[in-house]
Amino acid sequence: MSLEIRAIEPGEFEDMRRAMGLVFGSDPPQGDSRFERVLPFDRTRCVFDDGQIVGTSGAFSLTMTVPGSQVACGGTTAVAVLPTHRRRGLLREMMRAHLDDVREHGEPIAALWASDSAIYGRFGYGCASICHDIEIEIGRARWNRLAPDPAPARLVDRADALELAPPLYDRLRAVTPGFFDRTPVWWEDRSLRDSEPYREGGTGLRYVVVDGEDGIDGFATYRTKPAWDLHGAGRVVLRDLFAATPEAWSGLWSLLVNQDLVKTTGGGLRPTWDPVFDLLAGTRRAKATRLDALWVRLMDIPMALEARSYSSRIELIIGVSDPIGDVSGSYRLQAGTEGAECAPTTDEPSVWLDLEDLSSGYMGHARFRELARSGRVAGDAASIAALDSAFSWDPGPWCPEIF
Ligand SMILES: CC(C)(COP(=O)(O)OP(=O)(O)OC[C@H]1O[C@@H](n2cnc3c(N)ncnc32)[C@H](O)[C@@H]1OP(=O)(O)O)[C@@H](O)C(=O)NCCC(=O)NCCS
Repeated sequence: MSLEIRAIEPGEFEDMRRAMGLVFGSDPPQGDSRFERVLPFDRTRCVFDDGQIVGTSGAFSLTMTVPGSQVACGGTTAVAVLPTHRRRGLLREMMRAHLDDVREHGEPIAALWASDSAIYGRFGYGCASICHDIEIEIGRARWNRLAPDPAPARLVDRADALELAPPLYDRLRAVTPGFFDRTPVWWEDRSLRDSEPYREGGTGLRYVVVDGEDGIDGFATYRTKPAWDLHGAGRVVLRDLFAATPEAWSGLWSLLVNQDLVKTTGGGLRPTWDPVFDLLAGTRRAKATRLDALWVRLMDIPMALEARSYSSRIELIIGVSDPIGDVSGSYRLQAGTEGAECAPTTDEPSVWLDLEDLSSGYMGHARFRELARSGRVAGDAASIAALDSAFSWDPGPWCPEIF
């Protein structure tokens, strides 16, 4: 068996897509263009066995919002190894080639969504945001007496959605860690993709907006999955919902909860701070299942730590252990609300942690004191508490789209 790892040529994309389809258990639908127009082929790293693709991986070139700023990010994607070639180290070799590519691009972080949360810690990625899969029983849902009156929402068509949604998304992207830039092609082929095979028995996408003074203040997309019994047992499956004002949040959620012939409304990828919990009378009316969302790996610790903002002053030395060795070492971090400096040092650290956990706290998700309680972070208690207050950020990280 002669194995080779390299980027694909444009003519080899169909072979790559066939391999991904075999692994992810789906036959790519005719005309599906989720990758062709947005994935740089020269950033793929595929394994070829005697000329045939048996492992796939790639990187989107993204700009990711982090606390107080935006950074270039290698968006790890399309990771798959054929069932015939599993557990022989192909993933490990592809990740090596992929992370080399991210470093060569000068991107301070890499990020991904994991099919299984046990895979990527060994490569220094940490769970950097949590999302909620929400389920609301419509018959029991009432509006909270303190919730703002719902702003009027209106249905629009896809062409209007493609024009109206991006400016609102970009307003939120400027301040929300975990949002990444979407090009017009990305909006068309990924964010608002609505081809038949992806509907899973649901209707086409419905697009809803709430008007604001300058453009829209709220945007949502959803499908309905009809189910006919005597009471109407359908389900509203939410895909997107984001808003810039309390009235717009209230308007969108109110529309989605006040549906006829439907028993439940819900969907995944909701931020942990979704206002719906406070808009409903009784937080038990919305059930939330907690899931890991965006995973982040710091590729260059000084570059990444200097790029973000901090909630309070901090000066300390951290000892970082990278499971693949690239950035292991001690680093002095001096940071405050006005900026940050970070550099390698030979001085003794006051906190020791794995790169997985530093990456997990990077956007404000992980609490270092909690990690210390479980024995993952070690060191001086005051330094660990200082890390928590400096790294915390509002709003908490939310990545609204799987890539
Ligand atoms: C996950 C997948 C890519 C692993 O590929 P592989 O070539 O078999 O992995 P490797 O042999 O290189 O294993 C590397 C390490 O990951 C571990 N690992 C592999 N798959 C794992 C899984 N699903 N869960 C937990 N650990 C896993 C291995 O045990 C090994 O650990 P070690 O080196 O620390 O001992 C492959 O099984 C696959 O394609 N699965 C389906 C698609 C998928 O889940 N892709 C990931 C998308 S984010």
